[in-house]
Amino acid sequence: MSAAPDDLFDRIQAAASAVRGKTKIVPQVGLILGSGLGAYADKLSGADTIDYGDIPGFPRSHVVGHAGKLVLGERHGVRCVAMQGRVHMYEGHSAQTVSFPARVLITLGAKVIIVTNAAGGLNPQWSPGTLMLIRDHIDMLRDHALRGPNDERLGPRFPDMTKAYAPELRKLVKDVAAAENIHLEEGVYVAMPGPTYETPAEVQMLQRLGADATGMSTVPEVVVARHMGARTIGISCITNQAAGISGHELSHAEVTETATRVRATFERLLDAILAGLLARGELA
Ligand code: HPA
Repeated sequence: MSAAPDDLFDRIQAAASAVRGKTKIVPQVGLILGSGLGAYADKLSGADTIDYGDIPGFPRSHVVGHAGKLVLGERHGVRCVAMQGRVHMYEGHSAQTVSFPARVLITLGAKVIIVTNAAGGLNPQWSPGTLMLIRDHIDMLRDHALRGPNDERLGPRFPDMTKAYAPELRKLVKDVAAAENIHLEEGVYVAMPGPTYETPAEVQMLQRLGADATGMSTVPEVVVARHMGARTIGISCITNQAAGISGHELSHAEVTETATRVRATFERLLDAILAGLLARGELA
């Protein structure tokens, strides 16, 4: 037996133990809440809330607003662990650091990870406020969550990504959205490094590559979820048309305004997904 290639496994265990020391809730679903959606965590009942600062190894966001909290509680009979606030690679973190919390959620028990984000729409037909179920992704980030030694206790060296976004769960999301009368598109998410928004030329390139939405997050978390054998659901809120499509300049204010405008619908969709996961026995 060779020694562990690095201490990632131990750091994940230490973070998970710290969380277990503060809550009795063993989560079934992990929620990674993107820009403008963090408030969903406040809906969890019987919740225990833990500051990221009290979890060893958890990266802290330097972006204005919440420093970040982990909220564990129940929603529609499903035990959830929600990340209120996440860090991005453009803040200076490696892909391994950005994806560390997702590994902890899975270690705590989450079998399904639901990742949400704000994204720019590449499909010119989609107006801001459209919700998009992620069918697949393209990774244009300049670091990879699995770069470095592989620890077989976490997962294989070369994980398969054919079904990165579980087909049966995508069907479930489409079914519950239709039942709830929520308009939902489906498409390919491309992760770009940021923090600049894309140039119009880059937007044309991404369109030709087959992407429908562009953002600066999500891929590292989905990669580690696949590495560890958890299933993922990804949903983007198209907060703006990507650069050059509408002609007007992009701003973070537009992104947060749109995310806030569709928050109620997005939350209704998350509720329906949780209820659907339970009803279809996907958490058994
Ligand atoms: N590009 C990249 N990331 C984003 C965008 C965008 O247009 N909107 C929200 N996040």
